[in-house]
This record gives sequence, structure tokens and C-alpha cells, in this order.
Amino acid sequence: MSFDLVFFGGTGDLTWRKLMPALFQAFRHGKLPPGGRILAVARDERSDADYRQFIRERFPEVESAKRPSDDEFARFAELLHYRRMDLSRPEHYAGLKQWIDERGADTAVLYLATSPYLFPVICAQLGAAGLNGPTVRVVLEKPLGHDLASAQEINRVVRAAFAEQQAFRIDHYLGKPAVQNLMALRFGNALFEPLWRRESIANIQITLAEGLGVGTRGDYYNTTGALRDMVQNHALQLLTMIAMEPPSTNDADAIRDEKLKVLRSLKPFTPDSVARDVVRGQYKAGTVAGEAVRGYQDEVKVPAGSHCETFVALRTEVQNWRWAGVPFYLRTGKRLAGRHAQIVVNFREVPHPIFPGSARANKLVIKLQPEDGLELHLLAAKGSAQGELLAPVSLDLDFDKAFASERVGAYERLLMDAIAGRLNLFVRSDEQEQAWRWVEPVLKAWESDPNGPRPYAAGTWGPPASSAMVARDGCTWDEEQ
Ligand code: BG6
Repeated sequence: MSFDLVFFGGTGDLTWRKLMPALFQAFRHGKLPPGGRILAVARDERSDADYRQFIRERFPEVESAKRPSDDEFARFAELLHYRRMDLSRPEHYAGLKQWIDERGADTAVLYLATSPYLFPVICAQLGAAGLNGPTVRVVLEKPLGHDLASAQEINRVVRAAFAEQQAFRIDHYLGKPAVQNLMALRFGNALFEPLWRRESIANIQITLAEGLGVGTRGDYYNTTGALRDMVQNHALQLLTMIAMEPPSTNDADAIRDEKLKVLRSLKPFTPDSVARDVVRGQYKAGTVAGEAVRGYQDEVKVPAGSHCETFVALRTEVQNWRWAGVPFYLRTGKRLAGRHAQIVVNFREVPHPIFPGSARANKLVIKLQPEDGLELHLLAAKGSAQGELLAPVSLDLDFDKAFASERVGAYERLLMDAIAGRLNLFVRSDEQEQAWRWVEPVLKAWESDPNGPRPYAAGTWGPPASSAMVARDGCTWDEEQ
């Protein structure tokens, strides 16, 4: 399948930090379909050679295993092209169309790696130039809106030029191997399905913790916050994957229909339940991995007195027959104890314990990062002289080891899917809008709450109120068990 892949925002951070390294990996592993051209589009004047040099110079900032040798880069660079475009000028789109049409590749993938405020102008101009035919796909990067109204507005302009089937909305968490494994675990195996319900499961915890702070992105982050940055998209997408009913097929819409039903079943927030079931925090100075770090308000481009949350923990329920009454706890934050993303499914305790001291229930831990794997925690007899004592043991699966040579990164996977036209791992507009509809009452409640976020020391698991929230249900976060 021949393709043209066009990056609007071709000199931006996302392009050189994530997209080019991902494409290079696909190229290196022979996964990039032959007959491809990669075109970067940006405002300033450069030649192809200048652009290739620009990308080459940035590779040292990419993790070392993913850097090309000179020889590899020279071969990869042959695919790279550059084009200056003023995004408001129709004749520049006409020129782009001509460049694409002259070769007539099987597909053209237009990746909007720009600030979202440019999406309306780009989509309108692409439509007007006729760069929206059936072989064209448009890829949209987050943030897709700031609230429901702005998300709907983005979807309106995208829909005016493209059919839903042409729109590939990225949530890079869906490209992570662990997330695809979650689908495989649930729908490729019969073992867990009978247990995957309220009768067997006590609660589910989703943790997306980062050790890093906001770095140099203080200005973006301060108008975004953890709820918009991580919960509305990544955490909710994981929740839908955990809670969804088995889809009737592995097709994109069959999957996305089921995910949408979960989002629609989430218990809506009220001002009272926001006060009770949502904890927001902001990091103060502390120590992460042995290194002293500053507080959020001392980060660059963050105004003093900011009420921006860098941590959110919340409790929700999925209101349907399968999950009624089962708490789903979501938690995410910057400058927490470390980079640690996992989903913990806590099963119920045995109905009638006969062994002394065996109250510990089974749990399944789905590890997203830093490792990618599964742990099933069981109780076993120690066989010791004391008789019937049980001890916790776990069955551990390390997918990185098991499938080492075939693992691909999230962006690599999603880029290859966009080129191939596979929509399974992309978010449909109705899912995305429903996710905004659900988080909006929280944003509204916070706006009118003068107290602001609760402080937590960098390097901890967030404000103590987060533990108190789950303790009300008689639960503890995984690291406290
Ligand atoms: C991005 C957020 O979507 O995800 C960042 O904007 C966050 O703030 C990042 O750091 C986390 O992604 P990952 O893949 O490193 O867990």
C-alpha cells in the first residue's frame, strides 16, 4: 500500500519527539509499507535537506535504543520531504493537493500535529481544496477540546470536511501493548469472563502515576490540569476497556459502540458527589527518586497562586447490571512516587473463610508501565510445620520478555493503523463528547470552589484525602495493601 503521510506542525515537538522516532522504528523493523513519502509542513522556508538535518539533530534526545546509525538515517531520510505552507492560504493547499495527486498513492494520511486552535482553519481549507476524498484520512492529536462545547465545535468542523470513518482521533494509551492485551485477556480467553462482574469483583483501581513534573510545559498544563490532560481521555478509555461488554465483532464500530455504552452508564456527578468522590491535589516541593524537586507553583511558566490540579483521584460507578455498586477508582498525577501505570481488579473475599488469617482476596494486576505484564495474586499453602497457614503468591507474566522482538510502541502502532485504515484503536467523536459530558460537572464545581487543590509533597501518592476517599468504602489503594 503506497501512502503519503503529511504532518501539519512538522517542526513541532510532537513530530520530532514522538512521530519521527516511531516512524523510524517502523522503517527499521520493515513495518513501514513500501512506497511511502513523509511530508512535513510548517511555516518557515526550508529545503528537504534542511529538514532532514533538523530531524537528524534531534534524535540524540530520543532514548538511545531508538536512535538511528548514520547509515540507517540516510536511508530513512530519503522518505522525508518538507513543504512551506501558510495555513490560511488556499493556494498552498492547492499546491499540496497537486503534490499528492501527481503520484496518486493509495492513501494520504493528514496528521494534524498542531495546536487545536488551527484545526478549524486546516479542516476548512482541506475541504475547500478537495483534499478530503475517500482515500484521505485525517489524524487528530489531543487536546481535542477544552470542554464539551469546544470538543463539539472541533467535531463540527472536522465533520464538515470528512466522514467519521476518515477521522482518526488519537489517544496514545490505546496504542500501548498492555491495552491491546487487555482486549485479548477479556475477549480472547474464556477464563475471566464469568468472573468479570459485580458478583466476583469488589472494586477496580486505575492508576496512571508519573514521577515527572510539568517540565517546560507549564503554560499549557496550567490551563489544562490533570482532569483534562489524563482523566477525560486516557483514564476513561482504560475504564471503558475494562468495563465494556464483549463486542459482537472485532470491528472498530462494534468496539466503539460498547465503549460508548460504558461512558453513558457512568454515574453522573453532582456538586455534592464532586465534593465527596473527587480529590484534586497540587504538588509541593519534595523528593522523587532521591532527587529534590520544586513545587508546581515554582515551575517555569506557572503563575503563583495557581489552582491548577496536578493530581486527581475519583470514585465512580458503571450503572448497569454487570457493574452495579462496584466502585471504580481512577487516580492520576504528576510528581507522584514514580512512573507507574496499572489497573488492579480486586476480587471479593471467599464467602466463608476456613483457613486462619487468610482474609486476603485475589487480585489481577494489569501492568501498563514501566513493565508490561499481568500478575494474578492467589493464596497458597506454605506447606510449613505450622499447619494450615496460607501465603500470598503470584503468577507473573512479562509480555516484554515473552514477545520481545514483536513489541511496538504506541505511536508506531497507531501510525501504522492510520496508514492501513484500521480505526479500532482510535476514538470516535461520540465517545469523546460523552467523556467531556461526564467530566464537565467536575470542572464546573471546581470553578466555583475557592479552596483549590489540596497540597501533596512531590514523591508521595497524592493528598491523604485520596486514601480517605477509598477508605470510606473499606478499601485501600494497591500500594497500601
Ligand atoms: C499525555 C499528557 O497525553 O500523556 C502528558 O499530555 C503525560 O501530560 C503523557 O505526561 C503520559 O503519557 P505516557 O505514555 O508517558 O504515560
